[in-house]
Amino acid sequence: MQTIFVTGGAGFIGSHVVERLLSRGDRVVVYDSLTTGTAGNIPPEALFIKGDIRDKELVEQSVARHQPDGIIHLAAQSKVGPSLEKPEEDLSINILGTVHMLEAARKTGVSRFVSASSAAVYGDVDRLPIMEVSPKEPLSPYGTSKLGAEQYIQSYARLYSIRTAALRFANVYGPRQTVDTEAGVITIFCEALLAGRQVYIQGDGGQTRDFVYVKDVAEAVIEALNKETVRGVYNVSSETQTSINELLQQLSRAAGKDPEPDHGDPRPGDIRHSFLSYQRLHEAAGWSPKVSLAEGLKRTMEYYQQK
Ligand SMILES: NC(=O)c1ccc[n+]([C@@H]2O[C@H](COP(=O)([O-])OP(=O)(O)OC[C@H]3O[C@@H](n4cnc5c(N)ncnc54)[C@H](O)[C@@H]3O)[C@@H](O)[C@H]2O)c1
Repeated sequence: MQTIFVTGGAGFIGSHVVERLLSRGDRVVVYDSLTTGTAGNIPPEALFIKGDIRDKELVEQSVARHQPDGIIHLAAQSKVGPSLEKPEEDLSINILGTVHMLEAARKTGVSRFVSASSAAVYGDVDRLPIMEVSPKEPLSPYGTSKLGAEQYIQSYARLYSIRTAALRFANVYGPRQTVDTEAGVITIFCEALLAGRQVYIQGDGGQTRDFVYVKDVAEAVIEALNKETVRGVYNVSSETQTSINELLQQLSRAAGKDPEPDHGDPRPGDIRHSFLSYQRLHEAAGWSPKVSLAEGLKRTMEYYQQK
């Protein structure tokens, strides 16, 4: 049995990672401020420490006390909008908080560190699919802080004997997702369809995104932690392009509805098409997504139907 320290374990992706670790028989310590996450997302078998990753002393004490075999760092200011309103806060959580986690790993001698990065580090890339080597031109403070955090993580890997991986997630969706993220459109559509409300699409709905199911993402995180061959930065995606119109059609089918969507103005600065290659992670860890979009949307819709 190994002990894994998970920051952000009360959040959307973190809670699925924690569930999966527990089902494998690992001991899990969740460290979370409950800013966007909720205590109800944390399974009772996990140990929970309520704390902020900007609290260097508490972070270091907590890691030293539990002597984990690995750290999975998912806690973050995780959204583009708030990063535009409060860039200093985004910077302090995403960069300083990451440095605190790395320092705690170094001081306690934790040799494995996996962190969540984001496709937002790339910005608007012309050549698709986006590869890890594609240009990095983030369009928001959020993308910039994620890129900065990645650089710290990689420098700690070079300086100290810590095996690190930064995983650039595409648009993650599934049960327990909050609405104001990029893939949050799925939650918004589910709730509107089930409540019989008008569905609103920004622009013509032809814009495409790469949606990856949260359980596949949780598996990628755990593979990255456990496979010796995984080091560096990796995309985690489904390598598929789905338009917002297609998404609505599939969700409508899952809900047994036939809505007439209302189209508004496109979002200013919205990227038209985006999808990422996951071949690098596939080669290093044998990971590939298992849940098709149709199946993932069906499971997500069922979750909202039962809520
Ligand atoms: N959801 C996506 O589509 C997506 C895409 C790319 C990257 N990511 C990244 O994946 C990670 C998890 O994202 P998520 O979608 O689960 O978001 P989330 O907001 O649900 O989870 C983040 C968790 O971190 C906690 N947290 C926030 N600030 C904290 C702080 N200062 N100290 C301690 N805990 C704090 C929150 O309470 C929450 O539980 C984040 O690093 C995010 O940037 C998510």
